[in-house]
Amino acid sequence: MKNGEFITLGIETSCDETAVAVVLDGRKVLSNVISSQIDIHTVYGGVVPEIASRHHLENINAVLDRAMEEAEVSYDDVDLIGVTNGPGLIGAVVIGVATAKALSFAADIPLVGVNHMHGHVSANYLQYPELEPPFLSLIISGGHTSLVEVTDYNRCTLIGETRDDAAGEAYDKVARVIGLGYPGGPKIDKAAMDGDPEAVHFKRVFLEKGSFDFSFSGIKTQVINYVNQEKMKGRPICVPDIAASFQQALIDVIVQKSVDAALKYDKDHLVMAGGVAANSALRRRMEEACGEAGLRLYKPEPVLCTDNGAMIASAAYYKYLKDGADGPDLDAFANLPL
Ligand code: KG4
Ligand code: ZN
Repeated sequence: MKNGEFITLGIETSCDETAVAVVLDGRKVLSNVISSQIDIHTVYGGVVPEIASRHHLENINAVLDRAMEEAEVSYDDVDLIGVTNGPGLIGAVVIGVATAKALSFAADIPLVGVNHMHGHVSANYLQYPELEPPFLSLIISGGHTSLVEVTDYNRCTLIGETRDDAAGEAYDKVARVIGLGYPGGPKIDKAAMDGDPEAVHFKRVFLEKGSFDFSFSGIKTQVINYVNQEKMKGRPICVPDIAASFQQALIDVIVQKSVDAALKYDKDHLVMAGGVAANSALRRRMEEACGEAGLRLYKPEPVLCTDNGAMIASAAYYKYLKDGADGPDLDAFANLPL
């Protein structure tokens, strides 16, 4: 507690970002330090789990120190430690959980395990102090693409999810096919700015009528087929056009299903969360569609969309208020349902 305010330390290590943040009263970011391993994994064309764990281990103490320093707090001021305990790369999640447990034990601070997906949704509480459940959320990242009904700070019901690849996975795979490399999402986002989204027609996959599930694995095959076809005909491929057309096909489905779901579940607010929510074309299209449907759209700034410790601190704060602390037996999980 500092000046009567509740201070939460949030730790996130589920993929390739070593991230620690300090958050006040679950809503205000005092520091948000993110050490990205992108440059290291770029050489391999994607995240190598073993290397990710090793780098988390090497970086975590320095990231912790910087987050505490920037927030100008000491461990005596910290009321709660929140840590991602799944889902994610298990060797990576374990580093965060072990660090959090050690700190909790040494400094006698309560500890709460946070579901990474829940953390993504909670990023919105940091950006929008007025936002409260209920709302409908689109969680769209490298590992997940889900539509959830958020009825309370700690309660979400899944209403649809991808049956195969996550949207971020589709971005990353397609980027590889068209030679943009890793990380695919931001590179396609940038390349698409100079492309024509109508240049190539890729099929929009809506699945059965009324379903809020997604399927993105087919679009990668469509892009591969198109690239091979053009090469066989001796025609050069236009990377910005393919990037823009691929992105458009994905966005058409994502935006329509999200708006339909918000209306069907009688929500006024649609909340975007996860790494792909940083995509500039998706943000623009979602804003237009929500405007037309009379929905208020919430979209965290890009640094709060991709993995960070602040979103974990916010989720931990609300979980602690309702359920109290976890014990020293808190475990790490590769798969953890919402
Ligand atoms: O939430 P996140 O940082 O990690 C996971 O929980 O997966 O999301 C990472 C994913 C990656 O697939 C990355 O390519 C994608 O988010 N991403 C983007 C953009 N920035 C990150 N996708 C599209 N456009 C972006 N600007
Ligand atoms: Zn994430």
